[in-house]
Amino acid sequence: MSVRGASDVEAAADGSRVLRVGPGDVVTPLARERAQDLGVTIEVGGGAGNAPPPAVPPSRQVAGSGTTQRSGPRPGSGTAQRPGPVPQTGSGPAAGPAAPGARTGRSSNGAARAERSSSGAAGHGAGRPTSPAARAERSSNGAAGVPGAVGIPGGAPPPPVRPPSGALFRRGAPLPPGLASAPARPARHGRTGRVVVVGAGHVGMITAMRLAEADVFDEVVLVDIDEGRAKGIALDLTHTAPLAGFATRIRGSGTVEGAGSCDYAVITAGRPRTPGMSRSDLIGTNAAIVGDVASTLAATSPHVVLVVITNPLDEMTQHAWQASGLPSHRVLGMAGVLDTARFQALASLTGAGRADRIDALALGSHGEEMVVPLSRVGVGGRPIEGDLDAVVDRTRGSGAEVVGLLSSGSAFMAPGMSAARMVLAMAADSGEVMPAAVLADGQYGIRDVYVGLPARLGRDGVREIVELPLAADELTALRTAADRIRERLADLAPAR
Ligand SMILES: NC(=O)c1ccc[n+]([C@@H]2O[C@H](COP(=O)([O-])OP(=O)(O)OC[C@H]3O[C@@H](n4cnc5c(N)ncnc54)[C@H](O)[C@@H]3O)[C@@H](O)[C@H]2O)c1
Repeated sequence: MSVRGASDVEAAADGSRVLRVGPGDVVTPLARERAQDLGVTIEVGGGAGNAPPPAVPPSRQVAGSGTTQRSGPRPGSGTAQRPGPVPQTGSGPAAGPAAPGARTGRSSNGAARAERSSSGAAGHGAGRPTSPAARAERSSNGAAGVPGAVGIPGGAPPPPVRPPSGALFRRGAPLPPGLASAPARPARHGRTGRVVVVGAGHVGMITAMRLAEADVFDEVVLVDIDEGRAKGIALDLTHTAPLAGFATRIRGSGTVEGAGSCDYAVITAGRPRTPGMSRSDLIGTNAAIVGDVASTLAATSPHVVLVVITNPLDEMTQHAWQASGLPSHRVLGMAGVLDTARFQALASLTGAGRADRIDALALGSHGEEMVVPLSRVGVGGRPIEGDLDAVVDRTRGSGAEVVGLLSSGSAFMAPGMSAARMVLAMAADSGEVMPAAVLADGQYGIRDVYVGLPARLGRDGVREIVELPLAADELTALRTAADRIRERLADLAPAR
């Protein structure tokens, strides 16, 4: 009795494509899998049709072989599905959600985006994890059933199927010639797994840090008119790589053009509030900055998704959309994630439970007309006791509260984390519903204005605006918020 392994199969593949084994011989699961890959027939006792040789009993399998049996083809099955194709570039799967810890690759973004971009506006099935294009790509790479596999007598040996079994690479086998040096798939739409954060100030710095720490992107670029600051923060963050454990590169640039094309851009450039200022006081100054940055980003990265942070948020998001000329589902604003977190944190302080277990959504405007629908607030499906109106009031004033305490600048920890959270949800094509400033298109009875609403996020931005049942007064408050934003936008019009 001898054990016949993958090397025996490979030797047979170079010659007769038949591996003859003795009746008492043991054929390893990997050898069977390899035989399927290479079209080698395993014959027992010198002739096909005899009972197949025994597989290695579980007690004799080495660690890891169980994984092979779960995900690899079953011995004797002519139609077993093989694991997906081996990535040619190491840049991630061809399409679908990014694996945890995997950096977003050029082709993965591009393949999915190519289909979704052509499908038009958000809410029409955009952002599905696996596109037909990607599925077709996988089929052509051999992910479909393997014909002529071991155990089908009489068929001519099929040509070797490339790429070979993933089982080999899980065991550390070298990539076969040609695969190891395969050229990178061309990037589609110039997507690169890059996020650009414009404005290397307080919010930009935290956003970049969280994005880098997620270890999802190839590169995070900080852009600031103060080039030294952008480069300095980038270098400082680079030094944290071994401490935080990430491989994402971080770079600083003095211009948007210098950052290169990107998949996502976060706009934090602009002036923050000082004590006594309302967000709306920033409108004129920041509109000029945001309009310029958004149009440059759209020119350098036509398929970018913009996340606007600069205040006044709702107005700046609409302004960025108009200045950029991008489809509305690729321009959204961050405020609701922050305001929701503030509500959860403050409700938790009143004894409502752990902040991250409190269900809530902050909608409407990022300011006086913020709407936290209390009909949707709870913990574990149960309503929260206590004075929630007071919590909403404090949430609404939280930005000013922080500004007052800091005496220079405004909040940046929670804002930066919130922005990064949105970008990561999109990069993962998660389909998560998050409150965001989005262009309403009739939802909640609101149209043609950016306002905070629940949005399902996908790789290409807003997949759809989600309509939740609200109480009548909550709906009225939401529409009032939209009206107020529209009025402020009218004030901004002469400045454009
Ligand atoms: N949406 C929200 O929830 C939220 C929360 C916090 C802050 N904000 C807003 O975010 C913005 C940034 O806040 P911050 O605390 O980071 O301010 P900051 O002053 O620390 O940083 C702003 C940076 O933008 C840079 N900048 C200005 N013009 C630029 C341009 N044309 N190109 C590139 N960079 C430019 C500045 O040099 C500065 O480094 C402010 O408008 C603030 O009100 C929004």
